[in-house]
Amino acid sequence: MPLIAPSILSADFLNLGRDIEMINNSEADWFHLDVMDGRFVPNISYGMSIIKTMKKKATKTFDVHLMIVEPEKYFAEFKDAGADVLTVHYEASTHLHRSLQAIKALGMKAGVSLNPHTPVHVLEDVITEIDLVLIMSVNPGFGGQKFIPQALDKVRKVKEMIVATGSKALIEVDGGVTLDNADAIVNAGADVLVAGNTVFSAQDPAETIKKLKQAGK
Ligand code: DX5
Ligand code: ZN
Repeated sequence: MPLIAPSILSADFLNLGRDIEMINNSEADWFHLDVMDGRFVPNISYGMSIIKTMKKKATKTFDVHLMIVEPEKYFAEFKDAGADVLTVHYEASTHLHRSLQAIKALGMKAGVSLNPHTPVHVLEDVITEIDLVLIMSVNPGFGGQKFIPQALDKVRKVKEMIVATGSKALIEVDGGVTLDNADAIVNAGADVLVAGNTVFSAQDPAETIKKLKQAGK
């Protein structure tokens, strides 16, 4: 069974407390929190103060996806805000190995995300240091985009790398995940499904989470 991480980017910010409660009471496993800086991606979302506020009410793992340049400047602040898993982009990290060590030294799980154009093999020499590989299945920056099918191949390749090296990394897929493609994504090897639009535009978000949880069966 995959872990399900609803993306708060698609939540109703006028009713954020209600949406957090919905996730708390659902079969979801994690909260996926997208931080965008208007530089690494062409959009600006929210930052540590909102995350810290959410943490007061949320009862599940905080999976924080940093789509920002120079992410290493803020690791301690995101730890303080309540991040449990902290993911940086490969493309934004000149010293990725050092960043992974720094995130783990602060007591968080360390994730690395790959944009759609970035080949999986760039992780070969750090895969055993990684707790989570986040495969972007859309270009980062916005919710509600269409799934890029090549992501499935990348998931299979990362899975092979993980098995070959004995890495403990989980594979997360982020972007355009729907009830129609979730089976294929899990069957390719994904452990965690992020879903924003699919969950929050549903008539019954909790029921949709429950269905996503069944993916791959
Ligand atoms: C996109 C973000 C995603 C986004 C996914 O840059 O990383 O987490 O919220 O949204 P959906 O599931 O709607 O594609
Ligand atoms: Zn994300």
